[in-house]
Amino acid sequence: MLQELDEIESNGLAELNAAGDADAVEQWRIKYLGTKGRLKQIMPGLKDVPKQEKPAVGKRLNEVKTALEAAFKERQAAAAPSAAPAGAGVDVTEPGLPFGQGRRHVLSRTIDEITEVFARMGFSVADGPELEDERHNFTALNIPDSHPAREPIDNFYLDAANQPGGALHLLRTQTSTVQIRAMEKTPPPLKVIAIGRVYRPDTHDATHYSMFHQVEGLYVDRKVTMVDLKTTLFQFARAYFGEGAEVRMRPSFFPFTEPSAEVDMKMMIKGEYQWVELGGCGLVDPNVFEAVGYDPEEWTGFAFGLGIERIAMRKYGIADIRWLFENDARFLRQF
Ligand code: DAH
Repeated sequence: MLQELDEIESNGLAELNAAGDADAVEQWRIKYLGTKGRLKQIMPGLKDVPKQEKPAVGKRLNEVKTALEAAFKERQAAAAPSAAPAGAGVDVTEPGLPFGQGRRHVLSRTIDEITEVFARMGFSVADGPELEDERHNFTALNIPDSHPAREPIDNFYLDAANQPGGALHLLRTQTSTVQIRAMEKTPPPLKVIAIGRVYRPDTHDATHYSMFHQVEGLYVDRKVTMVDLKTTLFQFARAYFGEGAEVRMRPSFFPFTEPSAEVDMKMMIKGEYQWVELGGCGLVDPNVFEAVGYDPEEWTGFAFGLGIERIAMRKYGIADIRWLFENDARFLRQF
């Protein structure tokens, strides 16, 4: 029995040393010190030990027990800090903290919806850079050098030192730039929309922001007329704003279209249909075709440009454009 006790002690200590983590230490405790552990199992054997040896064996038994318990306590104390997070401190049955589910920004959704409506009408998507040169933002769009739209006060020009390639650059003020880019790339006929950011140095208030989005449309083919333009806008309005929507065009002027018009759409706002000004449109000016190398004798086209924020704000009853860009989750969560 003394031999067995020696063996329990040396094996026990060695195994405790080798126990890698809190789990292993606990397994060890059960194996050696538990109610059915090795020490407890050996106890009944004591009664078979010859009388004169009993004190020695009893003493040895106590020594081994004390040694194993002390080693265990020491080991537990050392392991305690690192073992805590993985062990009893985590209640896996606790309901977790709820975390909010994200959703698409109301403007992104509006853009997706508008793109889809025009896609169904056969328009493909074109795009262009937000940092533009003078040619695409003005010159090729038939906006002369002296035109007030080029005034520094109305544009974000790059300062002279930062002009790429020496040409005058600015943040685009309109997506009409993409009309030029699309026509430079692709021979006619052509049917594209372009959606993106535009920049103007406006003072921020409820209806003005220095960055906003436009959807631009361009259709080039033979014998395109104002009827095609109005039909297209009308179909869009019905598909997007519903059965009661209408389109109205008011004579206007833009350098890149002739004739030109402002576009209003009648849409449901707070239970009744109201007219909302959304942008401009017209038939592509022959000078624009010439600037991109299209033959104006053969090709005709229409173009339009609408403000995305205006569409979204009216459709969703958003009173202040700044809310769209503050990224306040309490606001965004509503859409
Ligand atoms: N680019 C114009 C603006 O930002 C809007 C516009 C008017 C676009 C007429 C067009 C158009 O394509 O034909 O004010």
